[in-house]
Amino acid sequence: MFGLGGNGRNGKHATAGNGHVIELAGITKRYNTGPVEVEALRGIDLTIKTGEMVAIVGPSGSGKSTLMNIIGCLDTASGGSYRLRGEEVAGLSIDRLADIRNRRIGFVFQNFNLLPQLTAFENVEMPLLFAGRSSRDRQQRVDELLAQVGLDDRKLHRPTELSGGQMQRVAIARALACSPDIILADEPTGNLDSAAGRDIISMFEQLWQGGHTLVLITHDPAIAARTHRVIRIEDGRIVEDSSPVRPPVAASPRVDSPTP
Ligand SMILES: Nc1ncnc2c1ncn2[C@@H]1O[C@H](COP(=O)(O)OP(=O)(O)OP(=O)(O)O)[C@@H](O)[C@H]1O
Ligand SMILES: [Mg+2]
Repeated sequence: MFGLGGNGRNGKHATAGNGHVIELAGITKRYNTGPVEVEALRGIDLTIKTGEMVAIVGPSGSGKSTLMNIIGCLDTASGGSYRLRGEEVAGLSIDRLADIRNRRIGFVFQNFNLLPQLTAFENVEMPLLFAGRSSRDRQQRVDELLAQVGLDDRKLHRPTELSGGQMQRVAIARALACSPDIILADEPTGNLDSAAGRDIISMFEQLWQGGHTLVLITHDPAIAARTHRVIRIEDGRIVEDSSPVRPPVAASPRVDSPTP
């Protein structure tokens, strides 16, 4: 539908020698806000391979967003090891983390996080500007991405002139701009009605088919059921890590789909 395919399953991105793009070992996170100390993560061990589509589920306050912020290099852990594509990132400086984040991670948020004063085109262009890409390169890439998410006729629209589903598509195009190793989405359908939500999930499935690695945080069981691995977090710990409940992509089964 939207032509979000990449170069085919598992062919798109480099990984560590063992095929793991994310390797977390003993990750802890403590927040010290005023007199209260919160232990948001209490020892997370988790590996995710290139080309996986993973849902992270769990009750409110269980640590899902905290975990996503650490995986996305938006925040650092209090303890433990985090290897991203084989490189230890746990002890890196803020600047270095920002650099890794810009190049390797695409984010999609519940509230879209688009810059309101910029057009759809300019929002998608932003990470390419930060990456120092030439004007011609940027033009070509943004055109390609907006066409991929079905919004080539909305380039000059600002976020307030778009529907929620369209805003989230712009955010997905922006997340893809620098060809990230992982796409992280925190409740990507949380502010959408069910039809727009389904549309966004189809888009993620197409990205997965194109070889992308996706980690989706969700409260929605319907979304979790469409991924091929569900990780449940409770009280800062992984309490369940499931195998597939059904083949992840209904639209066009492929003979080369990975087995768990
Ligand atoms: N910046 C912060 N400072 C202090 N405590 C925090 C901070 N961020 C999160 N927490 C606490 O850490 C715990 C985990 O929060 P987190 O946001 O990761 O939960 P969540 O699973 O994403 O919840 P939700 O489903 O409601 O989004 C909560 O108890 C929360 O109050
Ligand atoms: Mg959260």
